[in-house]
Amino acid sequence: SGPDTVTPTGAATGVDRASVAQHGPYLTTAQGARLYDSDHSLKAGARGPVLLQDHHLREKITHFDHERIPERVVHARGAAAHGVFHAYGTASEVTKAAFLGKEATTPVFVRFSTVLGSRGSSDTVRDTRGFATKFYTSEGTFDLVGNNIPVFFIQDAIKFPDIIHAAKPHPDREIPQAQSAHDTFWDFVTLHTEATHHTLWNMSDRGIPRSYRTMEGFGIHTFRLVNAEGATTLVKFHWKPKLGVHSLVWEEAQIINGMDPDFHRRDLADAIEAGAFPQWELGIQTFPDTPEQTFEGIDLLDPTNIVPEELAPVQPVGLLTLNANPSNYFAETEQVAFHPGHLVPGIDITDDPLLSGRLFSYLDTQISRLGGPNFAQIPVNRTHAPVNDMLRDGMHQTAVHAGAAPYRPNSLDGGCPFKAGADTSAYIEVPVEVPEARKVRDAPASFADHFTQPRLFWLSMTPVEREHIIAAYTFELGKCYEQAIKERALRVLANIDPELCEQVAKGLGLPAPEATVPLLALDPSPALSQLGRTWPLD
Ligand code: HEM
Repeated sequence: SGPDTVTPTGAATGVDRASVAQHGPYLTTAQGARLYDSDHSLKAGARGPVLLQDHHLREKITHFDHERIPERVVHARGAAAHGVFHAYGTASEVTKAAFLGKEATTPVFVRFSTVLGSRGSSDTVRDTRGFATKFYTSEGTFDLVGNNIPVFFIQDAIKFPDIIHAAKPHPDREIPQAQSAHDTFWDFVTLHTEATHHTLWNMSDRGIPRSYRTMEGFGIHTFRLVNAEGATTLVKFHWKPKLGVHSLVWEEAQIINGMDPDFHRRDLADAIEAGAFPQWELGIQTFPDTPEQTFEGIDLLDPTNIVPEELAPVQPVGLLTLNANPSNYFAETEQVAFHPGHLVPGIDITDDPLLSGRLFSYLDTQISRLGGPNFAQIPVNRTHAPVNDMLRDGMHQTAVHAGAAPYRPNSLDGGCPFKAGADTSAYIEVPVEVPEARKVRDAPASFADHFTQPRLFWLSMTPVEREHIIAAYTFELGKCYEQAIKERALRVLANIDPELCEQVAKGLGLPAPEATVPLLALDPSPALSQLGRTWPLD
């Protein structure tokens, strides 16, 4: 692997420019042979047939024919930046992760994205935004692959192909590109009511951020931290933007989509170029690691739940600064490969069934998107820690491995590098107890409440935010063709709040149904602060 280039701001770009630079006084073929003309094919006479023997012509066109790689199956459209993460050291009590230790400084690469549009779609659509961070730590790469909304549509990864099929453009005419204005999306999220909470956030101002620089980020799942003594703590990760959280209003978003579809991409690049480096604090909410894995009655393995910050304050643990734009979109932003299973000692997973499926999906998709199993060798994906693996050969292998015995232990190539059980700096999975159980395709009863947290979110909104939510549901549902889907959506809204349901029903010209679940009857702010004592699942 070549040396990393360091930009004037100190960020490692991950690209060894010397080995890839295209420069020199004359053009060459890919093999370095000097060309004298790159504008005319070799022909039998100036007006005669083009000759098959023209290698330069065939090389140039063949390479061009293969320039595109598949776009990501989701999050295809994105913008990215390099930066640096400075840890405060405040997390050291709960995790031994070196990059969170006091004054540790770690290079990072962050990619923001929309979820549903294609690579060439617009930036300011109503959608969830991806917020994926690659920390090139001294102990290996840690990826925090999060979103700007703290909950997810589904509780089990097995439904991910279904929600994405429902939310992507219809298969017959490939329209609409925007997330929600179509029948299949609303059909899915009203039949699978676990999607109610995420959908409500999408219909709020959070669905149309002003800038990537003004978005929060969330790891969503509960992770497990391990400290130097082996003690464990459950945790949720948060990114808090230094510029505060700001959104567009719907009319602005629509106009910008028409006038500058690259609005968020341009905003990020311009700000960094101007030296207005965007910053986020990384924060953690911590919870005792009990066998139940609940906190104040909230199931921590259910990714459709938040834990209100009033119950578990977000504690700042470090500062992220984005300070350099990528030098090549394809090399870096397009080829970067994040994975929620890229973990470092001190951070482990929990049994959230959504996370379990993600652990399989990302590597699998990247093998096809990036053309084989060796994409960890692409500069932006290279770990900054030493690599000594037993992975060999395969498409696009660029390493020249030494040795005759690619297996361990062996008696030929220097024996075994492991000291079994003794190496405390290795990544060792937390030996959590797995309860005795029967194999079932089922969800726990605690995953069944789909409406209490959406209601809390609604109750915490200001009057103007509520107006925006009502307008968004009315606009989006107004685009559905099927009357039955609109009616089902209103039944879901009735279970969040009667006023929300009535206003949207009025806008759609339909009767407002009654709630079918008991509604949490609390005033907005006390609702959040008293949640621990009044949680209906207790
Ligand atoms: C891509 C977040 C759930 C499959 C992404 C990206 C983000 C993200 C931010 C874009 C990464 C980039 O910029 O390159 C999340 C979050 C989830 C979630 C926060 C839930 C909490 C899932 C699930 C699956 C899945 C359940 C599948 C079972 C994928 C795939 C990609 C992707 C296949 C494309 C990766 C690539 O081509 O490199 N996700 N996702 N995601 N996600 Fe997820």
